[in-house]
Amino acid sequence: MALRNVINKNDDILRKKCRTVEKFDGRLHMLLDDMAETMYKAAGVGLAAPQVGILRRAVVIDVGEGLVELINPVITEAKGSQRDIEGCLSCPGEWGFVERPMNIIVEAFNRHGEEVTYKCSEYFARCVCHELDHLDGKLFIDIADEMADPDSIEEEQQK
Ligand code: CO
Repeated sequence: MALRNVINKNDDILRKKCRTVEKFDGRLHMLLDDMAETMYKAAGVGLAAPQVGILRRAVVIDVGEGLVELINPVITEAKGSQRDIEGCLSCPGEWGFVERPMNIIVEAFNRHGEEVTYKCSEYFARCVCHELDHLDGKLFIDIADEMADPDSIEEEQQK
């Protein structure tokens, strides 16, 4: 495993639409391992492949319940809404309020190419939505309805 550099929001690569993962091979596993290591090292709760410069539809998330890897994820159901503060490892020092669904169902593949389905709510749902936005070149700062004062944020987590 190896740490990878996290790309800053000013880099155009974060604005591109990622392509579907087609091979569930050792190279993908290495990418996912590196992404997880990079996320944990940065004390983040999620990381999307474009944030390490790879334009493929893969994300890792850990909201405190263990590592979740989502390959080619699609949200198939979204209900309710919640508004809370978000940050991003690609936007250091920036925080903003974003409205997200309260409950979602996300269908994806695991690293072995097997179908997986997660029912997510609250913070987990927020995090999945945030990471999936990265796969389409979208950042939370695009959709935040209000930016927050960084000095008022103590231990918020970054995605
Ligand atoms: Co992010």
